[in-house]
Amino acid sequence: MTRVVVTGGGTGIGRAAARLFALDGAEVVIVGRRAGVLEEVAAGLRPATVRTVVADLAETAGAERVLAALPDGPVDVFVNNAGGVDRAKQPGLAGYAESFRRTLDTNLFSAAVLTEALWPRLARPGARVVNVSSVAARRGGADGYTAAKAGMIGWSQGLARKGGPDGILVNTVAPGYVEDTEFFDPSGRSVRHDALVADTLLGRAGVPGDIASVIHFLASPGAAWITGQVFDINGGSVLGR
Ligand SMILES: NC(=O)c1ccc[n+]([C@@H]2O[C@H](COP(=O)([O-])OP(=O)(O)OC[C@H]3O[C@@H](n4cnc5c(N)ncnc54)[C@H](OP(=O)(O)O)[C@@H]3O)[C@@H](O)[C@H]2O)c1
Repeated sequence: MTRVVVTGGGTGIGRAAARLFALDGAEVVIVGRRAGVLEEVAAGLRPATVRTVVADLAETAGAERVLAALPDGPVDVFVNNAGGVDRAKQPGLAGYAESFRRTLDTNLFSAAVLTEALWPRLARPGARVVNVSSVAARRGGADGYTAAKAGMIGWSQGLARKGGPDGILVNTVAPGYVEDTEFFDPSGRSVRHDALVADTLLGRAGVPGDIASVIHFLASPGAAWITGQVFDINGGSVLGR
């Protein structure tokens, strides 16, 4: 049975991706900090085999927990999706520094350390790694979130180079504004909703399934010659080159 690990699989984009893989009949391992949220997703996907791992991936111990919770056998698909902005920023230089570091830990360190932990477990050949960056990396921004998501692109390309000889394919998706997630607010929407929608060429916000379907494709046989790439999925809010 195909085994898929999705971080941040309890909500938003990660939940939508976990659902697509579960519908394929894969064993899906979803990771996040809130047990209740993960359990609810797992219950909703039954009879699919969905395992939940409660772990804070901003800590090295979180990666160790995921590794310890995995049954024997290879990981076929690994989606580094957990992340988000820091809502607890304090004023002053110390507040800026703390928030910047926390944001790097949540978005970049988390992906890098868990990938390092799982790397020996990835299926050879054939494993697919999909990293979730952001349109922020394309637009630029003087903040920790943009730095983390831009850093993720270079890191991901290096991973693709490292994995190529073993048949491990690594790609990145860079979503634009996606509603029905907890990214901006538990309500699922940004306070800048109208402006963000107006930025798109298609006149609507993205929904988690818009991103999940590309992640799913990148894990499919049809994507067997795609590695080291970045996929901008943003309704045309930032044009590709
Ligand atoms: N929504 C957008 O407009 C948008 C745009 C561009 C990029 N993205 C990226 O897309 C990815 C998914 O976000 P989303 O939009 O689906 O928002 P979301 O609903 O907030 O999902 C983020 C998930 O990551 C988990 N998570 C956060 N910090 C974690 C940590 N330290 N350890 C383990 N899990 C953690 C959260 O679960 P817990 O809180 O339970 O841990 C949550 O399930 C993120 O990387 C985000 O940066 C989103």
